[in-house]
Amino acid sequence: MCGIVGYTGPQSAATPLIEGLRRLEYRGYDSAGIALGTSNKLFVEKRAGKLANLEGALSQVPEVHSGIGHTRWATHGGPTDRNAHPHLDNEGKLAVIHNGIIENYSELKAELQSAGHTFHSETDTETVAHLLSDLRKEHNGDLTIAMREAVKRLRGSFTLLAVHADRPELIVGVRRNSPLVVGLGNGENFMASDVAAFIEYTKRAVELGQDEVVTITPTAVSITDLAGKAISPREYQITWDAAAAQKGGFAHFMLKEIFEQPKAVADTLIGRFVNNQIAIDELKLSEAELKNLKKIVVIACGTAFHAGLVAKYAIEKWSKIPVEVELASEFRYRDPLVDSNTLVIAISQSGETMDTLMALRHAKEFGAKVLAVCNTNSSTIPRESDAVLYTHAGPEIAVASTKALLTQIVATYLIGLYLGQVRGVIKSADVSEIYNQMLELPAQLEQILETVEPLRELTRKFADKNTVLFLGRHVGFPIALEGALKLKELAYIHAEGFAGGELKHGPIALIEEGTPVIAIVPNTHEHGLDEKMLSNIQEVKARGAKVIAIATEGIEIPGATHIIRIPNSPQLLQPVLAAVPLQVFAYEMAVARGTDVDQPRNLAKSVTVE
Ligand code: AGP
Repeated sequence: MCGIVGYTGPQSAATPLIEGLRRLEYRGYDSAGIALGTSNKLFVEKRAGKLANLEGALSQVPEVHSGIGHTRWATHGGPTDRNAHPHLDNEGKLAVIHNGIIENYSELKAELQSAGHTFHSETDTETVAHLLSDLRKEHNGDLTIAMREAVKRLRGSFTLLAVHADRPELIVGVRRNSPLVVGLGNGENFMASDVAAFIEYTKRAVELGQDEVVTITPTAVSITDLAGKAISPREYQITWDAAAAQKGGFAHFMLKEIFEQPKAVADTLIGRFVNNQIAIDELKLSEAELKNLKKIVVIACGTAFHAGLVAKYAIEKWSKIPVEVELASEFRYRDPLVDSNTLVIAISQSGETMDTLMALRHAKEFGAKVLAVCNTNSSTIPRESDAVLYTHAGPEIAVASTKALLTQIVATYLIGLYLGQVRGVIKSADVSEIYNQMLELPAQLEQILETVEPLRELTRKFADKNTVLFLGRHVGFPIALEGALKLKELAYIHAEGFAGGELKHGPIALIEEGTPVIAIVPNTHEHGLDEKMLSNIQEVKARGAKVIAIATEGIEIPGATHIIRIPNSPQLLQPVLAAVPLQVFAYEMAVARGTDVDQPRNLAKSVTVE
């Protein structure tokens, strides 16, 4: 949950480091710091608070050509100057930055303290600086060997970068369960948590495996395992450019990303219908394996979990395979009933969420096949899965997920159609019709976004409310959960999502005069769903609620104070459309209340700790 960057090459290192940190700030923004490798000693500056605080303190930066930088999401030790990274050894010559958690740091710290080391912070990271310092001396000043030996003594999940003043042009990194990529430049090299940090300088990247130690200089990159055996780098091209990671005239990344949704959905759907069939060549299971599937289990966290809840309705309907959807953080601590006839779908925008990764590994131990639905090329979750279906949302920088949700829903729908088709339980005419209806979604999303201004204005009227409730039924229920999550994380407002039918079992007690209730009205008469939601609206209105209804044209909604219209589409596709007004509502509430839209308090974009 921290951002890490390292640079070595001809540039004045502070520039690519600060630029890189700016692009990684979504990963954590409690404090930031850099260490620059001047010869014989290090220049270190670090500050609590956002990157801007660090930049303000960097009026006199030495013109040197290598260094490491860090933006922090605090775990061990509060967000103070002292706990900010980098952390140094007692000579002030070796600096370390870290993303993750060193689980056995207390015992290592005690051992190092009794050997004479003095600690200056409450972090787990500082332990590594002292440990590396000792090991480097033991190994004749070789920082790479020292890193290998240090890692053998560490438990937990971590990405570490280290630099030493005696050889400042050389930076050593390692990863275990946390991300680290190498950027291959021309006469310069980079390391970072995410390619966004160096995309401006190079599109050539190298992925690192578990426990691989990498050493970079301006002209060389060498990777070894913990035994010192050389590993050939697996190079790949980054497919998006620097402009994709800029705000492009929007006030916030989140708003830009909301407006990118039509394209993101279109890009995820494109090319998936070939010769009258859904084509998912990435799904490497044989036809026999697909036919033998007895169960699907979706594992995910947060917004991705909500995408999974939506997917259940469609996958079960189209493939006739039972689907369970479980929070990854719960699944991993159970003895789940999964086996080789189970397909586990791990949904993750970042591909680095620790709980989802651990749940995936847990599922594999039981013999399940794992299919990742992921937005980040070559990240850990797809790498450890049996197959991956990439969503094509482009970089999502705002901490609050928007376009990731929509693309995850359509990607899982493709999987549902594909399974139904392979198993022969859905007519090919139906597959073709549904796919064509999905292709209409981008234009329908455009339509919503073109008419979003009145909703923004309306939202501001609710800015002083402290509770907002969301109601949905069927596929509208997960969208109600998502609407509430968005509002909580962005506007810091107490918000809850409920299934309409549950209202009378408790939540209705929350309604008082003026409580805003956002109701997602189903556009189907099947099972009387529409009427049931209309009754829910009457029930909350009778108790004083102000109801904002999200509904398609043509549905009368007596009792609603405001109605937000969305285009009509089949019921199963409605979540893709209904989610958008809720994103806009949360965004506008955050703006009106003056919260930090792109970097809400206490959060980070990818949660790479447990
Ligand atoms: C929601 O707005 C958050 N960004 C969060 O709930 C997120 O969806 C969750 O942490 C999962 O992230 P992932 O998709 O990268 O695994």
